[in-house]
Amino acid sequence: MNQSVIQLHRPGQLQLSALPPLSLYIHLPWCLKKCPYCDFNSHEAKGEFPEQRYLDALRADLESSLPLIWGRSVHSVFIGGGTPSLFSPDAIDRLLSDVRALLRLEADTEITLEANPGTFEKDRFKAFREAGVTRLSVGVQSFDDRFLQALGRVHSADQARAALDEAARHFETFNIDLMYALPGQTLADLDRDLDIALGFNPPHLSVYHLTLEPNTYFAKFPPALPDEDLAYAMLDRITERTGQAGLSRYEVSAYARAGHRCFHNWNYWQFGDYLGIGAGAHGKLSFAHRVLRQVRWRDPQLYMDNALKGQPMASEEEVAPGELPFEFMLNALRLREGFPLALFNERTGLPLSRIMPALQQAEAKGWIERDLAQLRPTERGFDFLSDLQELFLPDEGS
Ligand SMILES: C[S@@+](CC[C@H](N)C(=O)[O-])C[C@H]1O[C@@H](n2cnc3c(N)ncnc32)[C@H](O)[C@@H]1O
Ligand code: SF4
Repeated sequence: MNQSVIQLHRPGQLQLSALPPLSLYIHLPWCLKKCPYCDFNSHEAKGEFPEQRYLDALRADLESSLPLIWGRSVHSVFIGGGTPSLFSPDAIDRLLSDVRALLRLEADTEITLEANPGTFEKDRFKAFREAGVTRLSVGVQSFDDRFLQALGRVHSADQARAALDEAARHFETFNIDLMYALPGQTLADLDRDLDIALGFNPPHLSVYHLTLEPNTYFAKFPPALPDEDLAYAMLDRITERTGQAGLSRYEVSAYARAGHRCFHNWNYWQFGDYLGIGAGAHGKLSFAHRVLRQVRWRDPQLYMDNALKGQPMASEEEVAPGELPFEFMLNALRLREGFPLALFNERTGLPLSRIMPALQQAEAKGWIERDLAQLRPTERGFDFLSDLQELFLPDEGS
């Protein structure tokens, strides 16, 4: 065992009674083209990308991470991007074989892969299923060619439909990613997108409010977007119509049929642990007396060079105990049904009394409700989520 791992097990200020479930996130950073609104670590493939070398780097990254998760099993794997479906089915097969060779996966491990309709070709999704992927997440965004163009997407509405037909054929659980409050979008436009999306009978739907992220093309040249009132009306419409279709809103942006929630994201929101490998991937790992945050090198080339030398990490730091309550709440309050009160201590290693003043303030404002076992945001708290989360920000100097 090397010195830094021994350091992670030394006594500290926190007292975690149990370690959370562990997930694995794998970042594949290439796309056919960079979308103007996207601030994820994604890079234009420009014809081709070094598939085999990247897989070598991921394996080396995983091998060098093993001492940190010794003895733990993995409950979910999420292959995200970028556009993971740009990787060939053979590459995904090799990746998952490497993961299985190095880690202990639970028998029912959920394995998600993000796919773009623009990379779709017949039998590709079937081959991903055969490689062991159990859940496909298809980035559709809209079924209207006008909006797809405005968003700079490389696929058409027809391609999105064809990709979903194929996803539904081969995956019992699949997800459709949509965005709303698009440039020039009306309620009637949104209704048409929902008609088509719900027509596929999706087990899971993620619907995101289009946001203008700093350092994107849209931040520099912002398109005209629907105003706040219209955006709220759209969200109400989405919640109402998904509800009628048997999908319930279990998180701010996530809607699922019973038995089809995304375990991987659920684990993030419950402040579970995740090892993140790949360019720019973030990780959070708990130990009996501390919580560690990791970030891998962001640039794919730099990441590969360093990961292959056994040094994938750009930065690694212990989360200051004073920051844990906010980090926990930032995630857990996103869940519609909230969380068991005991989870706060279990995941942060801090006593509940640490957040009692903020909890009382939130209750006085009518933003949360709780009984002896569970704490949940109220309807109003969910509407004012960022104000509610901010109540848990660390005091200066803590
Ligand atoms: C990182 S992308 C990966 C999926 C895939 N590459 C794609 O774009 O279809 C995951 C999802 O985040 C959402 N997303 C990305 N940028 C966003 C933004 N600025 N505002 C809202 N949602 C965004 C999109 O719905 C997208 O499907
Ligand atoms: S395809 Fe997805 S990850 Fe790639 S640039 Fe577009 S939104 Fe970002």
